[in-house]
Amino acid sequence: MNTILVTGGAGYIGSHTCVELLAAGFDVIVVDNLCNSSEKSLQRIEQITGRKLVFHKVDVRDEKALNAVFEQHPIDAAIHFAGLKAVGESVQQPEMYHDINVNGSMTLARVMAQHGVFNFVFSSSATVYGDKSAPPVNEDAPVGPLNPYGDNKLAVENHLRELCAADSRWNCIILRYFNPVGAHASGLIGEDPAGIPNNLTPYITQVAAGKLAKLSVWGDDWPTPDGTGVRDYIHIIDLAKGHLKAIEALADNPGELTINLGTGRPYSVLEVLAAFEKAVGNKIPYEIKGRREGDLATLYADPTKAKAVLGWTAALDMDAMAEDAWRWQQQNPNGFA
Ligand code: NAD
Ligand code: WQD
Repeated sequence: MNTILVTGGAGYIGSHTCVELLAAGFDVIVVDNLCNSSEKSLQRIEQITGRKLVFHKVDVRDEKALNAVFEQHPIDAAIHFAGLKAVGESVQQPEMYHDINVNGSMTLARVMAQHGVFNFVFSSSATVYGDKSAPPVNEDAPVGPLNPYGDNKLAVENHLRELCAADSRWNCIILRYFNPVGAHASGLIGEDPAGIPNNLTPYITQVAAGKLAKLSVWGDDWPTPDGTGVRDYIHIIDLAKGHLKAIEALADNPGELTINLGTGRPYSVLEVLAAFEKAVGNKIPYEIKGRREGDLATLYADPTKAKAVLGWTAALDMDAMAEDAWRWQQQNPNGFA
């Protein structure tokens, strides 16, 4: 395994994964249409690692352009991050979400097979579990996505399982991420949401920086220890390293493998807020509001399988997530803009 195609490599998780891949000696080919990212992140990856990567501005639905990428490079495996991830937007625009997330993934798999590349690592999400199972959830827990975005992830998972069942040359590792947080310790790359953030921690750092007035906490009447929602936040560097382990595991795990990437340690919204206040050194204003539509009380991983099969466990704690996210925010008040 030498050359890795990283689709969506300019984005949040993709950029951190490129850093880990380059640092481990892999050659990296990035395909991204930059619809939710900046080419600057690719320059920063090169600055951090002191290595070059190859970039093609290509939409993963563009079969002809993808074919050209595979013709130019001796690709051994693909890590497929490219896609859209805003749950609310997926409810408003289900057709666009299906086209990019599902058709885009199927196009990539088709082009890979045409070029004899059968190693696929897919970015799935804990969102596929929905509210079907009591946490901690393991990979055998029933799935039941609650929105079109989650439906897209499950559709791609199932397509990859079907490919593996139909053709023994396929090796597909499906990674179900919990809630990625934080940034590279250099402060050079991090999460750069367009507009007002939907997710908790970029919202918190923008409040801390004075860009937003106060955090709305979506409900304090959930059946959780302090009444606020509970999730499994995972440092982006741990998540990126999980992809390296997946690439290494492809050869020893023919066929399909589904793995949670989470810490197994649940945190409430107020606990996350407290960690960020410590990192920032200031109080962060917040207000308790009603529950957000479609939210869950509690979701966190059983990460046993990742340890057993990949030899991976999360190493970085919530303090590191908060400190690194805050450093990124301070050094880049307007993201990559
Ligand atoms: P991101 O938006 O930062 O990165 C996605 C990248 O894909 C962006 O650079 C974007 O420009 C690119 N892209 C989008 N559509 C494309 C297309 N049609 N062709 C080519 N490039 C395209 O998001 P992220 O947080 O880095 O997420 C990466 C993947 O992980 C996504 O598939 C997402 O669904 C999944 N995921 C994310 C989270 C999370 O909370 N961030 C959790 C679970 C799963
Ligand atoms: C976390 C907690 C909120 C914002 C989403 C997607 C999921 C995955 C990760 C891609 C919850 C609370 C949040 C705010 C708040 N992405 N919150 N005020 O909903 O767990 O997961 O991102 O796959 O698919 O659904 O993450 O960061 O939005 O929320 O109180 O302004 O923070 O209610 O308890 P979520 P989140």
